[in-house]
Amino acid sequence: MIKTNKLNTNSSSPREIKYFLDKYVIGQEDAKKTISVAVYNHYKRIYYSYKAKVEIDKSNILMIGDTGTGKTLIAKSISKFLNVPFTIVDATSLTEAGYVGEDVESILTKLLQSANYNIALAEKGIVFIDEIDKISRKNDNPSITRDVSGEGVQQALLKILEGSIVNVPPNVGRKHPEQKLIKLNTKNILFIAGGAFEGLKNIISNRLNLSTIGFKKNVSLDVDGKDLLNFVSSHDIKKFGLIPELIGRLPIITNLNSLERESLKRILLEPNNSIIKQYKELFLLDKIKLKFTDSAIDLIVYKAIKLSLGARGLKTICEKIMKDYMFNIDLIKESLIIDKFDIKLKFK
Ligand SMILES: Nc1ncnc2c1ncn2[C@@H]1O[C@H](COP(=O)(O)OP(=O)(O)OP(=O)(O)O)[C@@H](O)[C@H]1O
Ligand SMILES: [Mg+2]
Repeated sequence: MIKTNKLNTNSSSPREIKYFLDKYVIGQEDAKKTISVAVYNHYKRIYYSYKAKVEIDKSNILMIGDTGTGKTLIAKSISKFLNVPFTIVDATSLTEAGYVGEDVESILTKLLQSANYNIALAEKGIVFIDEIDKISRKNDNPSITRDVSGEGVQQALLKILEGSIVNVPPNVGRKHPEQKLIKLNTKNILFIAGGAFEGLKNIISNRLNLSTIGFKKNVSLDVDGKDLLNFVSSHDIKKFGLIPELIGRLPIITNLNSLERESLKRILLEPNNSIIKQYKELFLLDKIKLKFTDSAIDLIVYKAIKLSLGARGLKTICEKIMKDYMFNIDLIKESLIIDKFDIKLKFK
């Protein structure tokens, strides 16, 4: 649905957009800035293009970051802010036309739906394609088996990303041969793609090591694993399995950093609906005051880091700690304090 009673985005600066994202997304400054600028420029391009003497091209974005670092969260948070149609699609559900799964055009069906089938509005929308790394090329020799959910989908995506008139079915799902297709121009639709690209860091580090041979050894490339994504190039992404034409249509690359202790602690406590706030609310509904000691919080973060699931690990650990307390909630009187010793018991 189109949000109308939100901030007047036409007058919100990129800094204000980022300020909005800050309430939900901890850290990830570069990604938040990139998205804020892209959204702001998108608005300018579609609403003030009549003032511009030069036609301004759109710049689609690729967000790369480890699992659980906030890619989908950024997409969902920005959607709360926007007052243009917005849709999030999962690339893993897409297949090449004619095969089991959704056609790439279904992306535009969803955008049309979020615009209440207002074509002009949908043509100014924003699409977030999540899990784009999952449609990477499955093998080096595509002629052996058709790669209908990998390279085939990438090829199909090209057409809608580059800006063309696409025939869009009005409904997703079962195809009615007689259903009337809707013509949609994708020229002004902003595409943001995101993915974890597991294994990409190895590709980057291999390239960096190779290219330093013969050069000055002290070119300060002794980066630790966490920073490697800062060095990502389109060659690395190509090697990972995206086709060059698709990479070329996602010209802005931004990466999300892996979350450190301090950020994880803030994620646990700070956002409006942080995990800890949610548990407190749950218990409060049973008139129980729930408290976590500082050392308990530190231990949760420590255990979450070991899981390597990003911020998702926090939830996993918390659930394990809280399960029995929630099960026996009717036996708890007035207050419950979770200390690090309670946590240690659960992880024996
Ligand atoms: N930077 C962050 N700030 C606040 N919360 C975060 C952040 N990163 C992750 N989280 C929390 O962790 C959960 C998982 O994050 P998200 O779904 O955005 O991960 P992702 O990067 O999309 O991972 P994946 O690659 O596995 O899809 C979110 O629901 C959110 O609560
Ligand atoms: Mg995600």
